[in-house]
Amino acid sequence: MSKPKVFCTHPLFETPRKLLEEHFEVEYWNRPERPPRAEVLKRVADTDALICLLTEKVNEELLAAAPKLRIAANVAVGFDNIDVPACTRRKVVASNTPGVLDETTADFAWTLLMAVARRLLEGDRLVRSGQWTGWNLDQLCGADIWGKTIGFLGFGRIGRAVARRASGFRMRVIYHDAVRAPAEVEKELNATFLERDAVLAQADFVSLHVPLLPDTRHLMSAAQFAKMKRTAFLINTSRGPVVDEAALVAALDAGRIAGAALDVYENEPQVHPGLVGRSNVALAPHIASASVETRTKMATIAAENVIAVFTGRRPPTALNPEVLEAK
Ligand code: GLV
Repeated sequence: MSKPKVFCTHPLFETPRKLLEEHFEVEYWNRPERPPRAEVLKRVADTDALICLLTEKVNEELLAAAPKLRIAANVAVGFDNIDVPACTRRKVVASNTPGVLDETTADFAWTLLMAVARRLLEGDRLVRSGQWTGWNLDQLCGADIWGKTIGFLGFGRIGRAVARRASGFRMRVIYHDAVRAPAEVEKELNATFLERDAVLAQADFVSLHVPLLPDTRHLMSAAQFAKMKRTAFLINTSRGPVVDEAALVAALDAGRIAGAALDVYENEPQVHPGLVGRSNVALAPHIASASVETRTKMATIAAENVIAVFTGRRPPTALNPEVLEAK
């Protein structure tokens, strides 16, 4: 009997590759650029499973082009690229990769925070330029981190992992989330729940950790920047459209906030031109979860979800497990 087919829109790491190749006929998109949409639609026509990145939209159009598809496994925790109700209607399992990237992403939120507060990238550019003339009293003075207040909008697994690291900096932790954290979590993280505007008004660093939903699109816009301290920094490792980039640029132009450090953008891979030339902004190319260990785990979970569907087991991180229960 021929093996079921899996199309992966990116080559995978060795561990998940070997796992998959035991069970399936696997086809990879191997080119450095992301596959054009037409190519994805063509390749899914006779595939039984899809392993995709957050750059691929799994929507009605794709599902209609993939009549045999049983699972779309996203190699990302965020799944705003997947129309889960459409998958459910067509009895296609959708899955993501929660749990394995929280700590790595939290490390990177701190990387960004520290880079922008302590002007690391400006310093790096100065040293490389050969223009550095030696130690000097007021050169590249940034903002202290220790002892300040860090404020979270969104306090799920990743936000909490970032907050856990704040105690080493002896910081005050404040947060807002649609759902208040359990008392034991607040106690462990020494975190205080506040209304959103109070978080914005009191934080020296505002770190975003909400999923992208209709309600969170442009959660940070002109009105919110106006509430922040002029000395505060915005850190975004969630999703680009959570921030109104034009409003962010206007706030930076007006000196409404001190700076920003971003891993994600409204229209990736495009970056608002008003961000590019600024020294008080640190920009990363959506790499918060990009450690070899974590990306390997993410791809492995995607492979395990696919294997589970075809071996009659429960996929570990299905977003719509009811699809299987209904069968
Ligand atoms: C990356 O952005 C992810 O959602 O895993």
